[in-house]
Amino acid sequence: MNEFLSALPKAELHLHIEGTLEPELMFILAERNRIHLPYASPDLLKSAYDFHNLEQFLDLYYQGTSVLQTANDFYDLAMAYFARCDVEHILHYEVFFDPQAHIRRGISMDIIMDGLTGAQQDAWHHYGASSGLIMSILRDLPVDDALETLKLAKPWQHEIIGIGLDSAEKGNPPGKFRTAFEIADEYGWHRVAHAGEEGPAEYIWEALNELKIRRIDHGVRCVEDPKLVDYLVKHQVPLTVCPLSNVRLGVFPDIAQSNFKQLLDLGLCVTVNSDDPAYFGGYLTQNMLAIQDAFELTQPQWIQLTHNSIDASFAPAERKQALK
Ligand code: HPA
Ligand code: ZN
Repeated sequence: MNEFLSALPKAELHLHIEGTLEPELMFILAERNRIHLPYASPDLLKSAYDFHNLEQFLDLYYQGTSVLQTANDFYDLAMAYFARCDVEHILHYEVFFDPQAHIRRGISMDIIMDGLTGAQQDAWHHYGASSGLIMSILRDLPVDDALETLKLAKPWQHEIIGIGLDSAEKGNPPGKFRTAFEIADEYGWHRVAHAGEEGPAEYIWEALNELKIRRIDHGVRCVEDPKLVDYLVKHQVPLTVCPLSNVRLGVFPDIAQSNFKQLLDLGLCVTVNSDDPAYFGGYLTQNMLAIQDAFELTQPQWIQLTHNSIDASFAPAERKQALK
C-alpha cells in the first residue's frame, strides 16, 4: 500500500508555503540575511515546536517568516516544496501565501511575487507540475489591512488564482471579510476560506453564504450541523482536510479518533492535504499513510480521494484530464 500511495499521481490544495519552511532552510536563510535565530541548531529549533493549538502554532509560524527577506528566499522556499512534490508525485498544487505576514515586516508584494512566480515557472519546466497561488487574508487583522493588501496585489491579479482566509479562527467570523472577497471576485479569483477547523459549523455557513466560497479549508466541524452536512453532500462542496495538522493543533487527540472516516462515509467530497508540513510532521504522502494506518482504506477509495483533489482543483479541464 505504501508504494501504491507514493506512486499515485496527486494534487495538493491546502498548503501554506510559509509552513514548508524546514528548520534547516530557516538556518540557511538566517545566515544569508544575517538574522539572529534564538536557537543554536535546526534540531534545537525543532524541539522548540511545542504547540497544542492554532494560536500557539501561529506564533511560531509568523516568527519563522522573519528569515524571508529577498525574492531569492521566497524562490528557495517554494522550490524546496516543489522538489519535494516531484519526489511524492504531486503534480498539481495550489499554494497559500500570507502577504500580510511579510508586508508588515517591510517586505514588498513584488519581492514575494517575484520569488514565488519564478519558482512556479521552474516547477513547470523542471517537473511538469502545474500550480496556482492563493493569496490568503489574515482574519485576525483589520478588514482595512485586507483591503490594502488587495490593492497591492492588483498588479499581480493575473498571477494569482484565488483568495483565502486563514490565521486565528475563533472570534474572527468570515463575514467580516465580505468586501474583500467581493473585490477578489472582481479580480476574477476563486474563493476559498479556512472554516470549521477550530471555529464552529456556523462559520462554514457564513463562508458559503457571505464569502461565496467554492471550497472549504478544513471544514471538519461540519458534522456538528446535519443540515450543513446535507448541503455539502448535495452540492459536493470540497473539504481540504489536513489530518496531521488536526492532531498537532489539538482538533482531535489522534488520527484514529479523528472524523476522517465519518466524513467519507457521509458522502462528503473529502481531499487530503498537509497544511504546514514543516511544522506538523509530514508532507502529503505522510498524511495519507497516517490515514491508512488508522482506517485501512481500499485502493479504490484512495483513487477516489486523489481524483477528488484533482476535480476540486482550479486547474483547467484539460489539465485535470491529464492528471488522472
Ligand atoms: N490554520 C489557520 N491559519 C493558518 C494555518 C492553519 O492551519 N497555517 C497557516 N496559517
Ligand atoms: Zn491551513
